[in-house]
Amino acid sequence: MLLEVQDLKKHFTVKRGLFDRGHLRAVDGVDLALAPGEACGLVGESGSGKSTVARLVLRLLTPTAGRILFDGDDIGGLEERDLAGLRERMQMVFQDPHSALNPRMTVFRSIAEPLVIHRRLGGLELRRQVEELLEIVGLSRQFMYRFPHELSGGQKQRVCIARAVALRPKLLVLDEPTSALDVSVQAQILEFLTDLRERLGLTYLFISHNLAVIRYVCDRVAVMYLGRIVEEGDTATVFEQPKHPYTQALLSSVPLPQAEQPDDAIILEGDIPSPIDVPPGCPFHTRCPQKIGPICETARPTLAPDATGRKIACHLYQEGTRPR
Ligand SMILES: Nc1ncnc2c1ncn2[C@@H]1O[C@H](COP(=O)(O)OP(=O)(O)OP(=O)(O)O)[C@@H](O)[C@H]1O
Ligand code: SF4
Ligand SMILES: [Mg+2]
Repeated sequence: MLLEVQDLKKHFTVKRGLFDRGHLRAVDGVDLALAPGEACGLVGESGSGKSTVARLVLRLLTPTAGRILFDGDDIGGLEERDLAGLRERMQMVFQDPHSALNPRMTVFRSIAEPLVIHRRLGGLELRRQVEELLEIVGLSRQFMYRFPHELSGGQKQRVCIARAVALRPKLLVLDEPTSALDVSVQAQILEFLTDLRERLGLTYLFISHNLAVIRYVCDRVAVMYLGRIVEEGDTATVFEQPKHPYTQALLSSVPLPQAEQPDDAIILEGDIPSPIDVPPGCPFHTRCPQKIGPICETARPTLAPDATGRKIACHLYQEGTRPR
């Protein structure tokens, strides 16, 4: 495995009132493994902890508990000063390319910066590598001396991606990389990202709340709810036959183009609970249309594999729990 995350947790202390402090469980026991060259999607409602997982993996945050194994190293406990080497091997592409680029830097300087800092390149070799990166992301050389405000959203995101792959990382973490772009540009960037993975042999951790995007880009998908993974498996299998009641609801609520919502669409009642007050037992029990009884309110279901290797955290599928 290139990346293995074990029982990863990130809890924040937040103010609830003048004297009251709460314990916010942003990520609450996540297990995930990515094979080299794989694209794994992370999907879930807003606030489910997707970006926090990304920031932990990149060690922009320090985990509260759990292990992060990357490329043979245990990186979960690394101190700030030991993280520089890691940045060369994993990079992030953010949602908003407008704020990710320095408005005063030309495209050349933006892309060149990591090569200058980490590889001490300069002169002709630097220029050659920047030209090659521009070619990889499908921008012509004429963009080299432009500033971000002279570029479209899609072009800016291509510059961000060129910068992210400049040091030839093994892992690219992409957090909603197309959500800030016009719909017409989104498809182009997704196609480009799919080609890029193959061309550079990259591994993706791809975050999106858009199921269609995940389906297009990812081989595997993990569905998050309140800081935990509730279902994980091969993208086609999970999307065609979702097993966890939350995945079923998520998929059935996707707006369908040129078609009416099916009669059996599952409408979830109530809001997603606060991660400060995570319900006991199964965190989804307050909204689950298939709740089987008191066990759902008291016992936390573990993420367990079925016969095909897909993993589900639900008592309906757990050993020793009688199915409905
Ligand atoms: N630094 C922080 N301090 C306190 N709470 C935080 C912090 N960062 C994130 N959170 C909280 O942790 C939870 C998970 O946030 P996160 O950003 O990971 O969600 P997300 O799944 O990426 O959501 P979105 O789809 O809206 O981007 C949220 O309730 C958020 O408010
Ligand atoms: S464990 Fe119970 S409440 Fe949770 S998803 Fe399964 S059936 Fe629903
Ligand atoms: Mg996020």
